[in-house]
Amino acid sequence: MQEKHGEWAWQWANFPDVDEWLFSDWIAPVTLEDFRGKRVLDAGCGGGQYLSLIAPYAREAIGVDLNTAHIAAERNRVHPNVRTVEGDIALASFPETFDLVYCIGVIHHTDDPDATFRNLAAQTAQGGRTVVWAYSHEGNFLNRTLVEGVKRLFVLRLPKGVVRAIAYVLATLMYLPIYTLYLLPLPWLPYYEYFRNWRKLTYRMNILNVFDKLNAPQTHFITRDRIERWFVENGYRDIRILPYRGVSWHGDGVKV
Ligand SMILES: C[S@@+](CC[C@H](N)C(=O)[O-])C[C@H]1O[C@@H](n2cnc3c(N)ncnc32)[C@H](O)[C@@H]1O
Repeated sequence: MQEKHGEWAWQWANFPDVDEWLFSDWIAPVTLEDFRGKRVLDAGCGGGQYLSLIAPYAREAIGVDLNTAHIAAERNRVHPNVRTVEGDIALASFPETFDLVYCIGVIHHTDDPDATFRNLAAQTAQGGRTVVWAYSHEGNFLNRTLVEGVKRLFVLRLPKGVVRAIAYVLATLMYLPIYTLYLLPLPWLPYYEYFRNWRKLTYRMNILNVFDKLNAPQTHFITRDRIERWFVENGYRDIRILPYRGVSWHGDGVKV
């Protein structure tokens, strides 16, 4: 598994950036204050960017990722309450459950998202909260067909430095329509909502966004029904499933 997914280590070693407002958007209506005093699991912590945001609030935080735990650990060296481990979030289990488990931008990249959610639920304490943010099936026609198709046929075979160069070129070209056509009141255009974020993000974060889409070895696009079923079937109450920018779902709930 580690060898198979070496692309992620490359990504996080080369793109360390983070935007706090984006993390806050993805977890909303949960807030950073909800992490205060909690034992937290970051399922798929990548380069540890979000661990560094929640560390000042959490009592204790553990980050799990396939092969980037060392990058996340280095980034969070200054936070004694943060620990990272290598592992598969579909299987990882801990002696103690967590008050808050979050999984941002990861579950849709796992082999079996349903099984992964079951494990996240098992790691969540009774009365604890699970927060998931995932790409939606809805609103992602071009990504599901064009981007995924080209990626599988061609891009995944290229050296990472070449993919990064392609991401720079594509992202730079995208600025033109996003700052002209997409400023007009034409909400029926594809990714209209999503490109609002593009205008708020730094250039480097937009490069990362494009690179991330080209780099991910596998992506499942999750329907609203499916994400809701995860919470219902695994015994949650106060379930909130909310669309984000027309291309993703936020889901959270309290484990009964
Ligand atoms: C798009 S990145 C998101 C990372 C981080 N949560 C963020 O939003 O910046 C996806 C991450 O999921 C991790 N990942 C994919 N499948 C995984 C699995 N089965 N177990 C643990 N981590 C996994 C990858 O290694 C990668 O770091």
